[in-house]
Amino acid sequence: MNVAAVHTTSQSFTHLLYLIAANPAWAATLREEIEQVIEQYGYDKESLDRMRRLDSFIQESLRFNGLGVLASTKLALQDFALSDGTILPKGTFVAAPLRAMHHDDGNYADAGTFQPWRFYREVDECGGEANAQSMTTTTTTYLSFGHGKTACPGRFFAALELKMITANLLLNYDVKLEGDSTEIPPVSWYIASRVPNMKANVLFRRRQKD
Ligand code: HEM
Repeated sequence: MNVAAVHTTSQSFTHLLYLIAANPAWAATLREEIEQVIEQYGYDKESLDRMRRLDSFIQESLRFNGLGVLASTKLALQDFALSDGTILPKGTFVAAPLRAMHHDDGNYADAGTFQPWRFYREVDECGGEANAQSMTTTTTTYLSFGHGKTACPGRFFAALELKMITANLLLNYDVKLEGDSTEIPPVSWYIASRVPNMKANVLFRRRQKD
């Protein structure tokens, strides 16, 4: 559980931290939404559901950055026939090509560009439409949490966690990269894993509330 839960969430948040520090305009838009929702509805799980721009921002980072090249790696413990007749002999490893799918223009317009509001949809009421599509909705082309019967069972928890940490950051701190840089610090690759920069500094200042 620790392996599945900890590095996934912390790496995902580190990407968000750099994105926010490098893009003050996106940070301002997110902060405005978070403050508006809290002012109108208070701060609870339903309010987090109502933060649709925040949801879109995190989903876009999961799409664009992701954890690496592959998702849903499986080992055939016995000969296994796929529905199209392909036989996976016992001992075969298979995985879904997460990064290739997420960066295919056929699946996402201008897939190589980070578009923070790509998944934003305006909704009136929380509960129905608001939750129908979100960062936790897996599809055959959005594979950040895998898909099908072994899709990540921790994703609803992870989504709340990421939203709460990001909201807390935006509500209480101004952040920026060293030298006011707007360049995301370069990522590292470990075999098929894509890891956010581990050495860059982010400057934090407690927000001056008026
Ligand atoms: C942003 C955070 C996370 C990401 C991107 C993520 C991603 C994934 C992916 C891609 C899989 C493979 C799914 C498949 O085989 O189709 C997976 C499986 C899993 N995840 Fe997560 N995960 C995250 C957070 C968490 C958290 C917080 C927990 C637990 C509290 C968790 C628990 C698990 C478990 C137990 C599995 C194995 C499920 C199975 O094979 O039946 N994950 N996750």
